[in-house]
Amino acid sequence: MKHALQEVISQRSLEERIAQLAGQISRDYADGDLVLVAVLSGAFVFAADLCRSLSIDCTIDFVRVSSYGSNTSSSGAIRLVQAPSLDLAGRDVLVVEDIVDTGMTLQWLINYFHEQSAASVRLCVLIDKKERRQVPLEADYAGFTLDHGFLVGYGLDFAERYRNLPSIYTLQDAAS
Ligand code: IMP
Ligand code: MG
Repeated sequence: MKHALQEVISQRSLEERIAQLAGQISRDYADGDLVLVAVLSGAFVFAADLCRSLSIDCTIDFVRVSSYGSNTSSSGAIRLVQAPSLDLAGRDVLVVEDIVDTGMTLQWLINYFHEQSAASVRLCVLIDKKERRQVPLEADYAGFTLDHGFLVGYGLDFAERYRNLPSIYTLQDAAS
């Protein structure tokens, strides 16, 4: 099926905003031991651009969780599919995620990283979708705040499609 896509965040806006976030993170972690932990698959593009804009040293790891029963709505049941490979004990973990929606995925991950004895755990999300939040959760760093719509591109998918698009689009005719 072919979907109608409408651009909501351009490549240029993404670049500019990510440079600002990276500047802020570089200042905040200047004296820290920063580990970026990107949540696969959606955050892989964001994490790649963010880490290359930092002016401080960092290490990078990945985690994969499964949270969605269907394509566009959260099941609430989170399962760890791929654990990070680094020992995170005593490290400053910055979770890099594409979208916070209901908040369940990130809430689960915050608890998980605390259980791994991280020295600190903060959240960096590209997009904060506030409309469907079910747990009170605020990102420490948020690129863009949007109220509604299902987004694709720049790492975000609909049924694994569109991750490779360089901008972010709304999908006009997806069920939500
Ligand atoms: P939640 O905060 O636990 O509901 O889940 C957030 C996850 O749902 C993100 O990591 C995304 O993978 C996915 N997600 C939420 N909204 C969208 C969207 O608009 N497009 C693509 N994925 C989304
Ligand atoms: Mg995701």
